[in-house]
Amino acid sequence: MEFKTLTEARRSVRKYADKQVTREQVEELIKAAQEAPSWKNQQTSRYYCVLDKDMCAKVRENCLPEFNQKRSENAALIVTTFEKDNVGFDDKGQPINELGNGWGCYDLGLQNAYFMLKAKEIGLDTLVMGIRDADKLREMLNIPDTETVGAVLALGYGDESPKKPNRKSLEEIAHFDF
Ligand SMILES: Cc1cc2nc3c(=O)[nH]c(=O)nc-3n(C[C@H](O)[C@H](O)[C@H](O)COP(=O)(O)O)c2cc1C
Repeated sequence: MEFKTLTEARRSVRKYADKQVTREQVEELIKAAQEAPSWKNQQTSRYYCVLDKDMCAKVRENCLPEFNQKRSENAALIVTTFEKDNVGFDDKGQPINELGNGWGCYDLGLQNAYFMLKAKEIGLDTLVMGIRDADKLREMLNIPDTETVGAVLALGYGDESPKKPNRKSLEEIAHFDF
C-alpha cells in the first residue's frame, strides 16, 4: 500500500470481529517493527504475544480497565516492553542526557508505529492501550524486572470504521521562523 494511503487508513479500532490472528501474522509484524531505527541499533524492544483466546480473556480481565477490556474484545494482545537502563546510558550506567530511559521508550514507540502500519497493510487493525496494569502484566506474563512495560497493542480484524480524529494545524506544532 502506498505510504499516504496506509497512514490515512490506520485508525485506532475499538471493536474487533471474532476472528483469530495467527502467529505467522504476528511474526511478520514484529519483523516489520525490527526495521525501525534504534539507539546504536541496540533493539531493546520486546514483544509478549498473547494469541490464545482464553489467555487473552484472562489478561484482559486482570490487566486492563473495563473500557479497554471491552475495546479489545476478540483481539490478540501484544504487550510491548523495553530493556531498561540500556539505551540512553553510558558504560558506567549513567544517563547520557536528561531523557534517560525515555530513549528506550522512544525506540519502542518507533517500532510499534512500524508494527501498526504493517498490520494495516496486511488487513489487520490495532489499538494502542497505554492504560493498563503493568505490575499485573509482569506477573501474568513473567516479564522480568529488567524490562519496562510499555503499551499493550490490541491486534485483530476491525469491526468498525472510525473516522479520523482531527489533527492540529501545522502552525500549532511546527516552528520555522528563526
Ligand atoms: C501512547 C498511547 C496510548 C493510548 N492509550 C489508549 C487507551 O488506553 N485506550 C484507547 O482507547 N486508546 C488509546 N490510545 C489511542 C489514541 O486515543 C488514538 O491514537 C488517538 O485518539 C488518535 O486516533 P487514531 O489512532 O485513530 O489516529 C492511545 C494512543 C497512544 C499513542
